[in-house]
Amino acid sequence: MTKTAFITGITGQDGSYLAPFLLDKGYIVHGLERRGSLSHTDRIDHIDHENLHLNYGDMTDGTNLIRLIKDIQPDEIYNLAAQSHVQVSFDTPEYTANADALGTLRILEAIRILGLERKTKFYQASTSELFGNAPAPQNEHTPFHPRSPYATAKLYAYWATINYREAYGIFASNGILFNHESPMRGETFVTRKITRAIAAIKRGQQTHVELGNLDAKRDWGHARDYVEGMWKILQHEIADDFVLATGQTHSVRDFVEAAFALIGHDIQWQGSGVQETGISKQTNQILVTINPKFFRPTELDILCGDPSKAKKALDWQAKTSFQDLVKEMVEHDLST
Ligand code: NAP
Ligand code: GDD
Repeated sequence: MTKTAFITGITGQDGSYLAPFLLDKGYIVHGLERRGSLSHTDRIDHIDHENLHLNYGDMTDGTNLIRLIKDIQPDEIYNLAAQSHVQVSFDTPEYTANADALGTLRILEAIRILGLERKTKFYQASTSELFGNAPAPQNEHTPFHPRSPYATAKLYAYWATINYREAYGIFASNGILFNHESPMRGETFVTRKITRAIAAIKRGQQTHVELGNLDAKRDWGHARDYVEGMWKILQHEIADDFVLATGQTHSVRDFVEAAFALIGHDIQWQGSGVQETGISKQTNQILVTINPKFFRPTELDILCGDPSKAKKALDWQAKTSFQDLVKEMVEHDLST
Protein backbone atom coordinates (compact mmCIF):
# COMPACT_ATOMS: atom_id res chain seq x y z
CA MET A 1 0.00 0.00 0.00
CA THR A 2 1.32 3.46 -0.88
CA LYS A 3 2.46 5.38 2.19
CA THR A 4 2.02 9.11 2.67
CA ALA A 5 4.63 11.23 4.43
CA PHE A 6 4.38 14.82 5.65
CA ILE A 7 7.70 16.67 5.96
CA THR A 8 7.86 19.94 7.86
CA GLY A 9 11.06 21.75 6.90
CA ILE A 10 10.98 20.25 3.39
CA THR A 11 12.62 23.40 1.99
CA GLY A 12 15.64 23.09 4.31
CA GLN A 13 18.84 21.08 3.89
CA ASP A 14 17.52 17.81 5.32
CA GLY A 15 14.10 18.13 3.70
CA SER A 16 15.78 18.48 0.32
CA TYR A 17 17.48 15.08 0.78
CA LEU A 18 14.59 13.35 2.56
CA ALA A 19 11.91 14.24 -0.02
CA PRO A 20 13.59 12.51 -3.00
CA PHE A 21 14.64 9.61 -0.76
CA LEU A 22 10.97 8.96 0.17
CA LEU A 23 9.70 9.59 -3.39
CA ASP A 24 12.18 6.96 -4.63
CA LYS A 25 10.68 4.54 -2.12
CA GLY A 26 7.23 5.15 -3.61
CA TYR A 27 5.84 7.48 -0.95
CA ILE A 28 3.41 10.30 -1.63
CA VAL A 29 5.21 13.26 -0.06
CA HIS A 30 3.58 16.39 1.31
CA GLY A 31 5.71 19.27 2.53
CA LEU A 32 5.09 22.36 4.62
CA GLU A 33 6.13 25.55 2.82
CA ARG A 34 6.39 28.96 4.50
CA ARG A 35 5.15 31.85 2.49
CA GLY A 36 7.90 34.40 1.86
CA SER A 37 8.12 37.51 -0.28
CA LEU A 38 10.68 35.55 -2.28
CA SER A 39 10.51 31.81 -2.94
CA HIS A 40 11.96 29.46 -0.27
CA THR A 41 11.87 26.38 -2.51
CA ASP A 42 15.23 26.65 -4.32
CA ARG A 43 16.56 23.43 -2.79
CA ILE A 44 13.63 21.33 -4.04
CA ASP A 45 12.58 23.11 -7.25
CA HIS A 46 14.47 20.53 -9.32
CA ILE A 47 12.28 17.68 -8.02
CA ASP A 48 9.65 17.22 -10.70
CA HIS A 49 7.46 14.43 -9.32
CA GLU A 50 3.70 13.89 -9.46
CA ASN A 51 3.74 12.59 -5.87
CA LEU A 52 5.30 15.73 -4.35
CA HIS A 53 2.87 18.30 -2.96
CA LEU A 54 3.63 21.55 -1.13
CA ASN A 55 1.21 23.11 1.36
CA TYR A 56 1.46 26.59 2.84
CA GLY A 57 1.75 26.74 6.60
CA ASP A 58 3.87 27.61 9.58
CA MET A 59 4.98 25.86 12.77
CA THR A 60 3.57 28.76 14.78
CA ASP A 61 0.05 28.29 13.34
CA GLY A 62 -1.66 25.40 15.11
CA THR A 63 -5.02 25.49 13.31
CA ASN A 64 -3.27 25.36 9.96
CA LEU A 65 -1.24 22.32 11.06
CA ILE A 66 -4.37 20.53 12.28
CA ARG A 67 -6.18 21.18 9.00
CA LEU A 68 -3.24 20.03 6.90
CA ILE A 69 -2.72 16.83 8.89
CA LYS A 70 -6.48 16.14 8.72
CA ASP A 71 -6.41 16.50 4.92
CA ILE A 72 -3.12 14.65 4.34
CA GLN A 73 -3.77 11.74 6.78
CA PRO A 74 -0.02 10.98 6.87
CA ASP A 75 1.40 7.57 7.77
CA GLU A 76 4.64 9.27 8.77
CA ILE A 77 5.46 12.82 9.86
CA TYR A 78 9.07 14.01 9.75
CA ASN A 79 9.22 17.15 11.90
CA LEU A 80 12.30 18.89 10.50
CA ALA A 81 11.07 22.49 10.58
CA ALA A 82 12.90 24.69 13.05
CA GLN A 83 14.73 27.94 13.57
CA SER A 84 17.89 25.83 13.44
CA HIS A 85 20.69 28.38 13.83
CA VAL A 86 22.22 28.28 17.31
CA GLN A 87 23.73 31.78 17.24
CA VAL A 88 20.53 33.32 15.85
CA SER A 89 18.59 31.71 18.70
CA PHE A 90 20.38 34.02 21.16
CA ASP A 91 18.84 36.97 19.26
CA THR A 92 15.40 35.37 18.77
CA PRO A 93 14.83 33.14 21.81
CA GLU A 94 11.06 33.60 22.00
CA TYR A 95 10.46 32.90 18.31
CA THR A 96 12.84 29.92 18.49
CA ALA A 97 10.85 28.47 21.39
CA ASN A 98 7.59 29.08 19.57
CA ALA A 99 8.67 27.37 16.34
CA ASP A 100 10.93 24.62 17.74
CA ALA A 101 9.29 23.72 21.07
CA LEU A 102 5.61 24.68 20.73
CA GLY A 103 5.67 23.89 17.00
CA THR A 104 6.50 20.28 17.89
CA LEU A 105 3.76 20.22 20.51
CA ARG A 106 1.25 21.54 17.95
CA ILE A 107 1.95 18.61 15.64
CA LEU A 108 1.78 16.03 18.42
CA GLU A 109 -1.51 17.56 19.57
CA ALA A 110 -2.85 17.48 16.00
CA ILE A 111 -2.15 13.74 15.86
CA ARG A 112 -4.07 13.30 19.13
CA ILE A 113 -6.96 15.66 18.34
CA LEU A 114 -7.49 13.98 14.96
CA GLY A 115 -7.49 10.48 16.47
CA LEU A 116 -4.43 9.45 14.41
CA GLU A 117 -2.52 7.94 17.37
CA ARG A 118 -2.53 4.45 15.82
CA LYS A 119 -1.98 5.57 12.22
CA THR A 120 0.63 8.31 12.17
CA LYS A 121 4.28 7.74 13.13
CA PHE A 122 6.20 10.84 14.24
CA TYR A 123 9.90 11.63 13.83
CA GLN A 124 11.37 14.51 15.85
CA ALA A 125 14.57 16.22 14.66
CA SER A 126 16.41 16.28 17.97
CA THR A 127 20.00 17.36 18.20
CA SER A 128 23.41 16.83 19.73
CA GLU A 129 23.11 20.44 20.97
CA LEU A 130 21.06 18.90 23.81
CA PHE A 131 24.28 17.50 25.32
CA GLY A 132 25.96 20.85 25.86
CA ASN A 133 29.45 20.34 27.23
CA ALA A 134 28.88 16.77 28.49
CA PRO A 135 32.10 14.79 28.00
CA ALA A 136 32.50 13.02 24.64
CA PRO A 137 31.56 10.53 23.33
CA GLN A 138 27.87 11.34 23.84
CA ASN A 139 25.20 8.65 23.49
CA GLU A 140 21.52 8.04 24.36
CA HIS A 141 22.38 7.82 28.08
CA THR A 142 24.42 11.02 28.31
CA PRO A 143 22.68 13.64 30.50
CA PHE A 144 21.49 16.74 28.66
CA HIS A 145 22.65 20.25 29.51
CA PRO A 146 21.40 22.63 26.79
CA ARG A 147 23.47 25.79 26.38
CA SER A 148 21.46 27.93 23.93
CA PRO A 149 17.84 29.05 23.45
CA TYR A 150 17.81 26.69 20.45
CA ALA A 151 18.88 23.74 22.59
CA THR A 152 16.45 24.54 25.41
CA ALA A 153 13.59 24.68 22.89
CA LYS A 154 14.72 21.38 21.38
CA LEU A 155 14.87 19.85 24.86
CA TYR A 156 11.15 20.61 25.31
CA ALA A 157 10.40 19.04 21.93
CA TYR A 158 12.50 15.95 22.79
CA TRP A 159 10.54 15.33 25.98
CA ALA A 160 7.16 16.18 24.41
CA THR A 161 7.86 13.46 21.84
CA ILE A 162 8.59 10.90 24.57
CA ASN A 163 5.60 12.04 26.65
CA TYR A 164 3.16 11.62 23.74
CA ARG A 165 4.62 8.17 23.12
CA GLU A 166 4.14 7.15 26.76
CA ALA A 167 0.81 8.91 27.38
CA TYR A 168 -1.05 8.18 24.14
CA GLY A 169 0.84 5.28 22.56
CA ILE A 170 1.86 7.34 19.51
CA PHE A 171 4.79 5.89 17.53
CA ALA A 172 6.92 8.95 18.28
CA SER A 173 10.73 8.78 18.05
CA ASN A 174 13.64 11.15 18.45
CA GLY A 175 16.66 11.12 16.17
CA ILE A 176 19.45 12.81 18.16
CA LEU A 177 21.50 13.90 15.20
CA PHE A 178 25.01 15.26 15.30
CA ASN A 179 26.02 17.96 12.79
CA HIS A 180 25.44 16.99 9.20
CA GLU A 181 26.33 19.10 6.23
CA SER A 182 26.17 19.05 2.42
CA PRO A 183 26.25 21.39 -0.56
CA MET A 184 22.65 22.23 0.47
CA ARG A 185 23.74 23.46 3.92
CA GLY A 186 22.52 26.92 4.94
CA GLU A 187 25.05 29.57 4.00
CA THR A 188 25.69 30.89 7.54
CA PHE A 189 26.58 27.56 9.15
CA VAL A 190 30.34 27.38 9.51
CA THR A 191 31.11 24.62 6.99
CA ARG A 192 29.19 26.18 4.12
CA LYS A 193 30.40 29.65 5.05
CA ILE A 194 33.95 28.37 4.63
CA THR A 195 33.34 26.50 1.36
CA ARG A 196 31.47 29.45 -0.17
CA ALA A 197 34.24 31.82 0.90
CA ILE A 198 36.83 29.56 -0.71
CA ALA A 199 34.95 29.72 -4.01
CA ALA A 200 34.66 33.52 -3.75
CA ILE A 201 38.39 33.86 -2.90
CA LYS A 202 39.33 31.64 -5.84
CA ARG A 203 37.24 33.86 -8.16
CA GLY A 204 38.82 37.03 -6.73
CA GLN A 205 35.51 38.26 -5.28
CA GLN A 206 36.64 38.09 -1.63
CA THR A 207 40.06 38.29 0.04
CA HIS A 208 39.51 36.26 3.21
CA VAL A 209 36.92 34.72 5.54
CA GLU A 210 36.04 36.04 9.02
CA LEU A 211 35.29 33.33 11.58
CA GLY A 212 34.63 32.96 15.31
CA ASN A 213 35.77 30.07 17.51
CA LEU A 214 38.24 27.94 15.53
CA ASP A 215 38.72 25.38 18.28
CA ALA A 216 35.14 24.12 18.64
CA LYS A 217 34.95 20.47 17.61
CA ARG A 218 32.01 18.90 15.84
CA ASP A 219 31.06 15.41 14.64
CA TRP A 220 30.38 16.28 10.99
CA GLY A 221 28.58 13.82 8.70
CA HIS A 222 26.71 14.09 5.39
CA ALA A 223 22.97 14.94 5.35
CA ARG A 224 22.37 12.29 2.65
CA ASP A 225 23.40 9.52 5.08
CA TYR A 226 21.37 10.99 7.96
CA VAL A 227 18.00 11.16 6.17
CA GLU A 228 18.24 7.42 5.58
CA GLY A 229 18.72 7.08 9.34
CA MET A 230 15.56 9.15 9.97
CA TRP A 231 13.54 6.79 7.78
CA LYS A 232 15.06 3.73 9.47
CA ILE A 233 14.09 5.14 12.88
CA LEU A 234 10.42 5.17 11.79
CA GLN A 235 10.66 1.63 10.30
CA HIS A 236 12.03 0.17 13.56
CA GLU A 237 9.64 -2.26 15.29
CA ILE A 238 9.15 0.04 18.28
CA ALA A 239 9.34 3.78 18.78
CA ASP A 240 12.65 4.72 20.40
CA ASP A 241 15.36 7.38 20.49
CA PHE A 242 18.63 7.08 18.55
CA VAL A 243 21.90 8.96 18.21
CA LEU A 244 23.07 9.33 14.59
CA ALA A 245 26.71 10.38 14.31
CA THR A 246 29.98 9.47 12.61
CA GLY A 247 31.92 8.87 15.84
CA GLN A 248 34.72 11.20 14.60
CA THR A 249 35.29 14.78 15.60
CA HIS A 250 37.15 17.66 13.92
CA SER A 251 37.72 21.28 14.85
CA VAL A 252 36.61 24.26 12.78
CA ARG A 253 40.35 24.81 12.25
CA ASP A 254 40.64 21.28 10.76
CA PHE A 255 37.76 22.07 8.40
CA VAL A 256 39.43 25.32 7.29
CA GLU A 257 42.74 23.53 6.61
CA ALA A 258 41.12 20.64 4.70
CA ALA A 259 39.00 22.98 2.58
CA PHE A 260 41.76 25.49 1.68
CA ALA A 261 44.14 22.62 0.83
CA LEU A 262 41.74 21.69 -1.98
CA ILE A 263 42.50 24.99 -3.75
CA GLY A 264 46.24 24.76 -3.12
CA HIS A 265 46.65 26.78 0.11
CA ASP A 266 48.33 25.23 3.15
CA ILE A 267 47.20 27.37 6.08
CA GLN A 268 49.74 28.48 8.68
CA TRP A 269 48.31 29.98 11.88
CA GLN A 270 49.90 33.08 13.43
CA GLY A 271 48.98 35.05 16.56
CA SER A 272 46.37 34.13 19.11
CA GLY A 273 42.84 35.02 20.24
CA VAL A 274 41.12 37.67 18.13
CA GLN A 275 44.53 38.52 16.57
CA GLU A 276 44.97 35.03 15.11
CA THR A 277 45.22 34.80 11.33
CA GLY A 278 45.42 31.96 8.84
CA ILE A 279 48.03 32.65 6.18
CA SER A 280 48.70 30.80 2.92
CA LYS A 281 52.10 29.12 2.96
CA GLN A 282 52.15 29.33 -0.84
CA THR A 283 51.18 33.01 -1.37
CA ASN A 284 51.52 34.64 2.08
CA GLN A 285 47.93 35.96 1.73
CA ILE A 286 45.87 36.36 4.91
CA LEU A 287 42.95 34.04 4.22
CA VAL A 288 41.34 33.73 7.69
CA THR A 289 40.77 36.36 10.37
CA ILE A 290 38.79 36.30 13.61
CA ASN A 291 35.72 38.47 14.20
CA PRO A 292 34.40 38.29 17.77
CA LYS A 293 30.86 38.90 16.51
CA PHE A 294 30.81 35.19 15.64
CA PHE A 295 31.56 34.14 19.25
CA ARG A 296 28.54 32.84 21.19
CA PRO A 297 27.53 33.72 24.76
CA THR A 298 27.82 30.01 25.57
CA GLU A 299 29.66 27.53 23.38
CA LEU A 300 29.89 23.75 23.02
CA ASP A 301 33.54 22.73 22.99
CA ILE A 302 33.38 19.19 21.68
CA LEU A 303 30.66 17.04 20.18
CA CYS A 304 31.49 13.46 19.22
CA GLY A 305 28.67 10.93 19.03
CA ASP A 306 28.57 7.24 19.78
CA PRO A 307 26.21 5.78 17.14
CA SER A 308 26.52 2.14 18.27
CA LYS A 309 22.82 1.79 19.21
CA ALA A 310 21.73 2.86 15.71
CA LYS A 311 24.27 0.53 14.12
CA LYS A 312 23.04 -2.44 16.12
CA ALA A 313 19.28 -1.82 16.07
CA LEU A 314 18.85 -0.07 12.70
CA ASP A 315 21.88 -1.33 10.74
CA TRP A 316 22.65 2.35 10.09
CA GLN A 317 26.04 3.97 9.86
CA ALA A 318 27.45 7.14 8.35
CA LYS A 319 29.07 6.38 4.99
CA THR A 320 30.72 9.66 3.99
CA SER A 321 34.17 10.48 5.35
CA PHE A 322 35.13 13.95 6.59
CA GLN A 323 37.53 14.40 3.63
CA ASP A 324 34.86 13.40 1.08
CA LEU A 325 32.32 15.73 2.71
CA VAL A 326 34.70 18.71 2.56
CA LYS A 327 35.62 17.88 -1.05
CA GLU A 328 31.99 17.60 -2.19
CA MET A 329 31.10 20.92 -0.59
CA VAL A 330 34.13 22.78 -1.97
CA GLU A 331 33.68 21.33 -5.47
CA HIS A 332 30.00 22.24 -5.44
CA ASP A 333 30.66 25.85 -4.47
CA LEU A 334 33.50 26.18 -6.99
CA SER A 335 31.13 24.99 -9.73
CA THR A 336 28.25 27.37 -9.03
P1 NAP B 1 17.50 24.14 7.88
O1 NAP B 1 18.25 23.93 6.62
O2 NAP B 1 17.70 25.38 8.66
O3 NAP B 1 15.93 24.00 7.51
C1 NAP B 1 14.94 24.38 8.43
C2 NAP B 1 13.59 24.22 7.78
O4 NAP B 1 12.59 24.63 8.72
C3 NAP B 1 13.39 25.08 6.53
O5 NAP B 1 12.57 24.37 5.61
C4 NAP B 1 12.62 26.26 7.08
O6 NAP B 1 11.82 26.92 6.14
C5 NAP B 1 11.74 25.56 8.09
N1 NAP B 1 11.16 26.46 9.08
C6 NAP B 1 11.80 27.27 9.96
N2 NAP B 1 10.92 27.92 10.73
C7 NAP B 1 9.69 27.54 10.32
C8 NAP B 1 8.37 27.88 10.71
N3 NAP B 1 8.14 28.76 11.68
N4 NAP B 1 7.35 27.27 10.07
C9 NAP B 1 7.56 26.39 9.07
N5 NAP B 1 8.79 26.03 8.65
C10 NAP B 1 9.84 26.61 9.27
O7 NAP B 1 17.75 22.92 8.88
P2 NAP B 1 18.33 21.44 8.56
O8 NAP B 1 19.82 21.49 8.66
O9 NAP B 1 17.67 20.90 7.36
O10 NAP B 1 17.83 20.67 9.86
C11 NAP B 1 16.57 20.01 9.88
C12 NAP B 1 16.13 19.82 11.33
O11 NAP B 1 17.09 19.02 12.02
C13 NAP B 1 16.01 21.10 12.15
O12 NAP B 1 14.94 20.92 13.04
C14 NAP B 1 17.31 21.18 12.92
O13 NAP B 1 17.14 21.90 14.10
C15 NAP B 1 17.57 19.71 13.17
N6 NAP B 1 18.97 19.31 13.28
C16 NAP B 1 19.86 19.65 12.31
C17 NAP B 1 21.17 19.22 12.40
C18 NAP B 1 22.18 19.57 11.34
O14 NAP B 1 23.38 19.44 11.62
N7 NAP B 1 21.76 19.95 10.13
C19 NAP B 1 21.58 18.42 13.48
C20 NAP B 1 20.63 18.08 14.45
C21 NAP B 1 19.31 18.51 14.33
P3 NAP B 1 12.41 28.08 5.17
O15 NAP B 1 13.10 27.34 4.05
O16 NAP B 1 11.17 28.78 4.76
O17 NAP B 1 13.35 28.89 5.99
N1 GDD C 1 27.94 29.65 12.20
C1 GDD C 1 29.22 29.93 12.48
N2 GDD C 1 29.82 30.99 11.86
N3 GDD C 1 29.87 29.16 13.37
C2 GDD C 1 31.18 29.44 13.60
C3 GDD C 1 31.84 30.48 12.98
C4 GDD C 1 31.14 31.31 12.07
O1 GDD C 1 31.65 32.25 11.49
N4 GDD C 1 33.13 30.48 13.40
C5 GDD C 1 33.26 29.48 14.26
N5 GDD C 1 32.07 28.84 14.40
C6 GDD C 1 31.81 27.70 15.28
C7 GDD C 1 30.60 27.87 16.18
O2 GDD C 1 30.92 28.69 17.30
C8 GDD C 1 30.32 26.41 16.54
O3 GDD C 1 31.15 26.01 17.60
C9 GDD C 1 30.77 25.65 15.28
O4 GDD C 1 31.51 26.57 14.49
C10 GDD C 1 29.61 25.10 14.46
O5 GDD C 1 28.69 26.15 14.24
P1 GDD C 1 27.47 25.99 13.21
O6 GDD C 1 27.96 25.54 11.89
O7 GDD C 1 26.68 27.25 13.28
O8 GDD C 1 26.64 24.75 13.80
P2 GDD C 1 26.20 24.38 15.29
O9 GDD C 1 27.06 23.24 15.74
O10 GDD C 1 26.13 25.57 16.15
O11 GDD C 1 24.69 23.89 15.07
C11 GDD C 1 24.38 22.96 14.02
O12 GDD C 1 24.47 21.65 14.50
C12 GDD C 1 23.54 21.30 15.55
C13 GDD C 1 23.80 19.83 15.94
O13 GDD C 1 24.88 19.76 16.81
C14 GDD C 1 22.96 23.31 13.55
O14 GDD C 1 22.68 22.56 12.39
C15 GDD C 1 21.92 22.96 14.61
O15 GDD C 1 20.60 23.11 14.04
C16 GDD C 1 22.13 21.50 15.01
O16 GDD C 1 21.17 21.12 15.98
